[in-house]
Amino acid sequence: MDYLAQIDKKKTPVHVAIIMDGNGRWAKKQGHERLYGHNFGVESVREVLKASTDLGIKYLTLYAFSTENWNRPKEEVDGLMDLLVRSIANEIEELMSSDVRLLTIGDTDGLPGSCQAELKSAMTKTEKNKTINLALALNYSSRWEMTNALKQISRKVSSGEIKEAEINDQMISDHLTTKGIPDPELIIRTSGEHRLSNFLLWQAAYSEFYFCDVLWPDFKREDLFKAVLDYQSRERRFGMVSEQLT
Ligand code: IPE
Ligand code: IPE
Ligand code: MG
Repeated sequence: MDYLAQIDKKKTPVHVAIIMDGNGRWAKKQGHERLYGHNFGVESVREVLKASTDLGIKYLTLYAFSTENWNRPKEEVDGLMDLLVRSIANEIEELMSSDVRLLTIGDTDGLPGSCQAELKSAMTKTEKNKTINLALALNYSSRWEMTNALKQISRKVSSGEIKEAEINDQMISDHLTTKGIPDPELIIRTSGEHRLSNFLLWQAAYSEFYFCDVLWPDFKREDLFKAVLDYQSRERRFGMVSEQLT
């Protein structure tokens, strides 16, 4: 089926966020180490980024490493950090020629120095690019992010910079690591797991969820188109009733 042809380009989501899951199981199924799956996952990132650009999506957020992922075996954590550095170095020319701006969300100060340096250089190089924003969630978790926001806001209240009565939705959003990024209309999780795993809990207040069984290294263009098409078939009511939406 040609999913792309059925997509209404005027109604594509502005922001799609993806929990890229299933690399380890994909590798195991073929008798390889988990890192083999992570390596192949990079190819899916490349393809999904290109497909997102073709659809006119402006923000693509990819959950690449959670604060809980530090608890994995050291060999896997080291391999993932190494893969991050290598992938950014390999892709930087392509990001420039495709006009992709690289962003990060999460506690990137907690990443190894080599990752921070590579990310910083790529973000500076791509900062004027406009076609699509690629936000990598690295050392990210919503609970970390919300705790951090709460600390910043309470410091401002204590110092008198703001009054408690001024705290509202917008102010909270502005103290999250996603500041300036619109909330995702669509959140996709691959590999058949039906949970958020500490991802965008605040921002997902009105997101549409799409779960599919495909393991991340097998997730390709058509899978993204299928998800967007599914999203377009839904009615987003934001607490109202159908009749009010027209
Ligand atoms: C997702 O794949 C990538 C990361 C979390 C870094 P997994 O590594 O979680 O793969 P599974 O879920 O174990 O198959
Ligand atoms: C979520 O996947 C984190 C990323 C995709 C980076 P996990 O594989 O770590 O999530 P759980 O542990 O199965 O919930
Ligand atoms: Mg997983």
